[in-house]
Amino acid sequence: MEPQQDLPLDVLILAAGLGTRMKSARAKVLHELGGRPLISHVVRTARQLHLRKIFIVVGHQAAEVEKVVRAEFPDDDIAFVTQAEQRGTGDAVMAARAELEGVDSTLLVLSGDVPLVRAETLSRFVDAHTASSAACSILTVKLENPFGYGRVVRDNENSFMRIVEQKDASPEERQIREINAGIYCFATRQLFGALARVKPANQQGEYYLTDVPGILLADGEEVKVYLHEDSREVAGVNTRADLAEFENLLRRGTIRKLLLEGVTFIDPSHAYVSAEAEFGKDCVIYPDVMIEGKSVIGDGCVIRSGSRITNSRIGANVQVKDHCVIVDSDIEANCGVGPFAHLRMNARLEESSVVGNFVEVKKSRLGRGSKSMHLTYLGDATIGEKTNIGAGTVTCNYDGKQKHETIIEDNVKIGSDTMLVAPVRVGHGAVTAAGSVITEDVPPDSLVAGVPAKVKKDLKGGGNK
Ligand code: UD1
Ligand code: CA
Repeated sequence: MEPQQDLPLDVLILAAGLGTRMKSARAKVLHELGGRPLISHVVRTARQLHLRKIFIVVGHQAAEVEKVVRAEFPDDDIAFVTQAEQRGTGDAVMAARAELEGVDSTLLVLSGDVPLVRAETLSRFVDAHTASSAACSILTVKLENPFGYGRVVRDNENSFMRIVEQKDASPEERQIREINAGIYCFATRQLFGALARVKPANQQGEYYLTDVPGILLADGEEVKVYLHEDSREVAGVNTRADLAEFENLLRRGTIRKLLLEGVTFIDPSHAYVSAEAEFGKDCVIYPDVMIEGKSVIGDGCVIRSGSRITNSRIGANVQVKDHCVIVDSDIEANCGVGPFAHLRMNARLEESSVVGNFVEVKKSRLGRGSKSMHLTYLGDATIGEKTNIGAGTVTCNYDGKQKHETIIEDNVKIGSDTMLVAPVRVGHGAVTAAGSVITEDVPPDSLVAGVPAKVKKDLKGGGNK
């Protein structure tokens, strides 16, 4: 056999199954772990390897699986092959026959439902395989409770004989603690010949990929077993209980890392933080806070209970009071938010501005030092500096068909319960009286009042109108 070190590495990820044990309408690999679908974890790990091409076998909700992968890795050379009917893992690999048969490569086979395996582990496994002359290598671990997994049967000399699935195993075989992790290396050229001879003669009536090593062995080929130490790393997600356990594991790891990096968690067992979130120094996170996606939190921020921050940037020394929802938004330094505030769709609070109790800010910018403290909706609005938005203000931005913009310039005082019927502009230094309904632009430095509001006073020139 030619030296395998010189062969390129291809990766094949099996992701066509429904995942019956998830009891879900959604394909298993679309279920999320740490805020990302399972398949995304496996692809991210795979692409850290020095490889030629990734193939993904899709079937259940194939279009959806392809969509989430393409969205996350738009520039990668990833090929999707379809397994029309899910007839087992062997049949799944067979779906890639046209693409891979006769190719001179090493094929690393991974499962879309084994999300925590590390790239270093895979890399060492591939190296061990390519350094040998084996036609197939199998990654195994020993488990206290091997229930559900394929068992690795060895002969008296401790050499590999075959893999037997849980459902097909004899009571003696079920005692075996060494299990097949579902991670294999094959000499691609030899794989498909053996795969063609797999028969669905088993309890599940499926074509098992796990029969291939035994077939290769019978052909006189070498099959290597690579026993890995860390069993948790290669555990598969089969049920929602597995998923919850993995989530907890990830979450604890992330919080521990952040604690060591200098973030205070009042109760580390009740904080939910994405592995992609970043924190400055001396942040304090209260119980039941959720920080999702690629959020960045600056130095000295305090985030109180019940708040959720998703894909947002928060500057230094921001106080987020209890029960705020902040999504896809940007908050600059020294701002205050909440309690019970909702910022979304690119809401932007400039330095030292404050959004208070029961205020919603959508696709709007609040200028430096401006305030909107109570019971307000700001949608499609641009608000200048040092402006105060009174309680109960509403930007009436939607006419039933289209959204319109409201512009409020610097140093404006919007009186309580002002309705701003957009499109409308309030000039700098203007004042709106309580209960005004603003249907036309307000000149700078004027006082308007009424329904609809009319100019009552020129605040600079004096005199009533
Ligand atoms: C499989 C192995 C088992 C191993 C375990 C490790 C077989 C027969 N058994 O069992 O020895 O211990 O993984 O986690 O391979 N899939 C398809 N098409 C199909 C069937 C499955 O693409 O027709 C995909 C699934 O989406 C999944 C992966 O293959 O990502 C594994 O399938 P699953 O049914 O979970 O296999 P296990 O029973 O866990
Ligand atoms: Ca599985």
